Amino acid sequence: SSIGILPGNATRVQQYFAKLVKGPANTLTQLPGSYLGPILRFQKGQKIRINLHNQLDEVTITHWHGLHVPAEVDGHPLYAIGKGETFVYEFEMLNRASMNIYHPHPHNTTAKQVYHGLAGAILVNDDEEKRLELPDGEFEIPVVIQDRLFDNQNQLIYARHMHDRMMGFYGDRILVNGLPNFHLDVASRAYRLRVLNASTARIYKLAWDDNTPITVIGTDGGLLEKPVKKSYVMLAPGERLDLWVDFSGRKVGSRLVLRSREFSGVLPGMMGGGRGMHGSSLPVGSDYPIFSVKVVRQVSDSPALPQKLSIIKRYTAADTANPQKPVPIGISEGPMKMVLNGRPYAYDDIQPNERIPFDTVQLMEIFHAHGGGHGGASKPATRHGGEESGHKMGGMGMRGMNHEGGGKGMGMGMRHGGGEQGGHKMGRMMGGGGMGMMMSMAHPIHLHGQYFQILNRSLDGPESKGYASVKDGFIEGGWKDTVLVMPGERVRIIKPFQDFKGLFMFHCHNLEHEDMGMMRDFSVE
Ligand code: C2O
Ligand code: CU
Ligand code: CU
Repeated sequence: SSIGILPGNATRVQQYFAKLVKGPANTLTQLPGSYLGPILRFQKGQKIRINLHNQLDEVTITHWHGLHVPAEVDGHPLYAIGKGETFVYEFEMLNRASMNIYHPHPHNTTAKQVYHGLAGAILVNDDEEKRLELPDGEFEIPVVIQDRLFDNQNQLIYARHMHDRMMGFYGDRILVNGLPNFHLDVASRAYRLRVLNASTARIYKLAWDDNTPITVIGTDGGLLEKPVKKSYVMLAPGERLDLWVDFSGRKVGSRLVLRSREFSGVLPGMMGGGRGMHGSSLPVGSDYPIFSVKVVRQVSDSPALPQKLSIIKRYTAADTANPQKPVPIGISEGPMKMVLNGRPYAYDDIQPNERIPFDTVQLMEIFHAHGGGHGGASKPATRHGGEESGHKMGGMGMRGMNHEGGGKGMGMGMRHGGGEQGGHKMGRMMGGGGMGMMMSMAHPIHLHGQYFQILNRSLDGPESKGYASVKDGFIEGGWKDTVLVMPGERVRIIKPFQDFKGLFMFHCHNLEHEDMGMMRDFSVE
């Protein structure tokens, strides 16, 4: 099959327009009234050709987030094309059934292009999934969550102040599938919701308003082994959730709202429990609705939730090529810049730690390179050269900081708009071992290529109130390609690097951070 994707160009909206040249009719599904690109549906094993025609006045390239494809067709910024140019993608669908994303990946302008509308969902189906007979057709509903800011003409506003880049850009309207005030009329039976956080920076804590548990059947990389019930689930930019929601037993007329619930600890100033500063009138971590549901139709039968979904072979450190020496992914939160492994993004700057032997399974550790006496034997921050400059904060005014937990786990309040006092210097505020971060925030770290497994998480310091407000919402038992790394946290993952050599990016999926250079390449060789 073959489709053409045509990024268009309205005044402020940028859009993927697609037409199917050849292939099954269900390959493309338009979301009615939406600026989002159509849903692309593929089968495992399918051979795919996609022609990207760039009709923007700027360079772009499309990346297939989550898909295991050759480096040359992964949407690396090296392959960005200019106005009027065409890029031809050809690959075979190797992924298992899963929800993935397509979005632009040109260096420095990814966030802006995604914000203005360039994004869409990819649903991959396979035989294993088909056998489960999960709700499909009108009972399988995509839920693409984004936040946006509008001016009084209802046009999108996107700012790029240094502050928005540091914290991420936040809108004050929640859109689902590109629509405000999203609402679903449902029948009294089970549904499958395919949820994707396509916001540039906003993190959600999803829960039903009547405290019905959230039933998760899959994550980024497809189905879990068995369903997991949670009172809430966290969803960071780039992450997906496959939710089972059963309305049977609910009366016609009954309502349910999916909300984002209160939490803290993901932005500077939030560590002590506050919501942190990011200049939005819809604060991250406040309580607000995402969409509403109303039961409008009584039906007599509904599929039952399968208790066995899939088989996932769990990796252990012993299965990796480097059980003693995890590949470091160091988060450096420096003055006015966010980078990985201490270095801003460049195409031709592969460091020894970033060379991965082809056809291996690697143990990797994501950690905050600054912050905190990691007292143990491993000191990855220094070992891997993540040390850069001291914390100098030009252009930001600082307010008081609050100690928490007896001087451990330090939160910092920062206020926007103190631009006049450049060059505020902040000493490194850590004392003995077990001290928390300063100016630290949560980062959704995404790796291109194959899905990975999360081996474990640990905290460098004591658990903060903020951490406690999110920790039960991580779904870790399945395949992932994006993981939310909280301040002071170390996350060990195991990832295969098979089938394809070449450059595969890893970056923060806070897209403002990505564009600031919080991105590196692994060279698989
Ligand atoms: Cu969703 Cu490298 O991106
Ligand atoms: Cu990706
Ligand atoms: Cu980040």
